[in-house]
Amino acid sequence: MSTIRDVAKLAGVSVATISRYLNKSGYVNVETELKIKKAIETLNYSPNAVARGLAGKKTNTIALILPDISNPFFPELARAVEDVASMYGYAVILCNSDNQGMKEQSYIEILKKKHIDGIIFASNTLSHTEVAHLDKNGIPLVCLDRAPGKQSCSVVRSQNKNGAKLAIKHLLGMGCRKIAHIYGPHELITAKERLIGYEESVTGFDWYSPTLTMEGDFSIAGGMHAAQVLMDRHPDIDAIFAGNDLMAVGALKALIRRGIRVPEQVAVCGFDGINMTEITEPEITTVAQPIYEMGALVSRILIKKIEGIMEADQTYELDVSLIPRKSTQRRES
Ligand code: RIB
Repeated sequence: MSTIRDVAKLAGVSVATISRYLNKSGYVNVETELKIKKAIETLNYSPNAVARGLAGKKTNTIALILPDISNPFFPELARAVEDVASMYGYAVILCNSDNQGMKEQSYIEILKKKHIDGIIFASNTLSHTEVAHLDKNGIPLVCLDRAPGKQSCSVVRSQNKNGAKLAIKHLLGMGCRKIAHIYGPHELITAKERLIGYEESVTGFDWYSPTLTMEGDFSIAGGMHAAQVLMDRHPDIDAIFAGNDLMAVGALKALIRRGIRVPEQVAVCGFDGINMTEITEPEITTVAQPIYEMGALVSRILIKKIEGIMEADQTYELDVSLIPRKSTQRRES
């Protein structure tokens, strides 16, 4: 299929001149017009939205690459991205990478062919160099949430470490004296930061042992399994802090199945602030991330970048807030 560049070459003019002719957005003299028309006929070129994109016109479309659309945290994020994008006249293409690097790479190739105006990465499979390469190749991008650490673009995430400290402070304040932690996949920065926040809060206590921590996979089943292992290791645990709400739901399920009363015997606290924590019995205390605010901010940053409003790349760490509920209600200390 011929491209706008082929037409420009055959007509002996620039791509910008072809673009002005196609979009009727500027002067083209009669002689040049005839040459362009002849070249288009010879090459049987058919301009379309992609061609307009190729000629430097925006397609007014951005992409959001998420790692796990089945986790309620991400649709809430997508909602905010889409609300802000449509406010500025941009459509959003949603891509679910299932945490797979290969899948993400193929999405990026497809998006490049569609001349996407910009990309928001919320997954963790792209390395710093790959992100830098895309940025250098004229694809504005911004990273969100679990995207890897230092990036050559702006990053928006919440205060994961402080959020974990908030959870532990709350559990200690509720009279808990042996707190376990189920952390997310160790390769994810969000899981790592929450684990560090837990460790910094508890390593000074005589009851602390690294065997009070267990890796989960940010899923309900993963939370269930980890809670079972932890309770087998330490039957005297009186609180579990889970690195996300789905694992907290799984931990609650495992405790109830063992006939353990929550919060009377073991308190449970999660992280994220998804609605699911309000439908369990008891309702689960959680550290709420400003999910909507994160999505709205990252969308604004990307659109500014696309429209050439240059701002220095920076990492935005948004505040989190504790939502105390029945699963950690105060007990006699
Ligand atoms: O629940 C999914 C988790 O993955 C969230 O905590 C979010 O921060 C992401 O990293």
